[in-house]
Amino acid sequence: MTALGFGIASAQAAPPKLAGGGGKKVIVLGAGVAGMTAAYELSKAGYEVTVLEARSFAGGRCQTARKGFKLTELGGETQECDFDEGLYINHGPWRIPYHHQSTLHYTKEFNVPVEIFVNDNDHSYVMFQHGKGPLAGKPLRKGEVAADMRGGAAEILAKSVKQGALDAQMSAEDREQLIAYLVGEGYLTNDLAYKGTEGRGFAIPPGPGVDPGPGKPSTPYAFADVLHSNAWRVLTSVSNYDQQRTMFQPVGGMDRIAKGFEGAVGHLIRYSHQVKSFKQNAKGVEVAFTDGDGKPGTIAADYCICTIPLSVLRQIDIQVSKPFKEAMANVAYAPVGKIGLQMKRRFWEEDHHIYGGHVYFDDPEVLSLSFPSTGWQSKKGVILGYYQFGGQAAKVSALSPAERQALAGRAGDKVFDGYSASIENSFSVAWHRVEHNLGGWAQWSDEERAKSYPVLCEPDGRLYLAGEHMSYIGGWQAGGIESAWQQIAKLHARVHAA
Ligand code: ALA
Repeated sequence: MTALGFGIASAQAAPPKLAGGGGKKVIVLGAGVAGMTAAYELSKAGYEVTVLEARSFAGGRCQTARKGFKLTELGGETQECDFDEGLYINHGPWRIPYHHQSTLHYTKEFNVPVEIFVNDNDHSYVMFQHGKGPLAGKPLRKGEVAADMRGGAAEILAKSVKQGALDAQMSAEDREQLIAYLVGEGYLTNDLAYKGTEGRGFAIPPGPGVDPGPGKPSTPYAFADVLHSNAWRVLTSVSNYDQQRTMFQPVGGMDRIAKGFEGAVGHLIRYSHQVKSFKQNAKGVEVAFTDGDGKPGTIAADYCICTIPLSVLRQIDIQVSKPFKEAMANVAYAPVGKIGLQMKRRFWEEDHHIYGGHVYFDDPEVLSLSFPSTGWQSKKGVILGYYQFGGQAAKVSALSPAERQALAGRAGDKVFDGYSASIENSFSVAWHRVEHNLGGWAQWSDEERAKSYPVLCEPDGRLYLAGEHMSYIGGWQAGGIESAWQQIAKLHARVHAA
């Protein structure tokens, strides 16, 4: 799995221990999470660090939209977030797996409190329209689908084993154990039948007295109907390595992480400085920039750590070897779209008793909508109204913000009565249209991961690249942090060997 680039554990849980930078000068390009990691650790180790940041604020993609947050996509209209005070959407990174110990290292270091991000909810819905049969196109509770698929599959397998279908493959003892497992897994009765389970919910829930008393069990769907609905396809969504049922998020917004770093290295950052060129020779590096007033300038140093996404960096005049430049051209960046919808009422909690988690769609223009993992039982809330990728994200990004809101509203109306009528305002982002990012994250093909990626992992002269794109933890802050850790450790070793 690691070799394929999927699901590698966060390789490092703590930064490299560096000391004795001796005032060597390092320019860091980009005050995102990777850049600020490098700046923080190198400055602590005695390096003289300057960070150039194109934006007027730090964090890179680690952003949170709340009242007053502005975004102008390339060729798009300016959106100013108009959520009520206290409401927000994490339109960049939004969840942290338990094994991203590098990210959690810094939330702890900077006293950023974290809370649980509900990444799975059996009581939420699956809305698949492209299946067949009576359940297609109906919102189904995920827990009902899960229970009925487990029960139906367990029943068929258990009965087949009982009838001798696996006698040749398995010993009698193994068959007995397997049947015992299937009875538990599928809530089967003594005659190996699945007749439903409390776990899928009740038709009438238990309560006081004799009525409702023990309640009334719910009736499972016909196995063939659930099979043909396709809804079972979502059941593995939280069994991947980087997706768990519960994850973490910073209390108050993901940008609390950016602010934590900024508190420590903000004095090193020159904001609104756009990199125009990078030059190097055997003695050092020089970066040309324009400052916030458009005035040109240059800065010299011994080394440079560049965290600018390759989608942007390859358009800048940089002095690197031909193989390095060619390698930089060989990675695609993912089109990604998200929208936050301020809802006037938390109907998902009040009417549907859904607290966090996602609704899954087989409509690729929507894919999922997600409920906030914060503000439980308060009046309003911000739903993530869609989260699409690739071609569909490109398509939706061509819409105006108002049209995107309407699209998200239509999707939600298929599941919840009065959904679109409940939307008060929205804030959307299409990361591939965001200047300084031009994509959600790097998407290495297997071929380029083998060919170009190793070239870029090594310094080109005095230039070191870092960022999520320089890791196998792509699209996660941990990738940015750990690649920064790796590169500064290499740089430090070189300084000390010199
Ligand atoms: N890391 C990204 C997410 O959590 C892909 O959605």
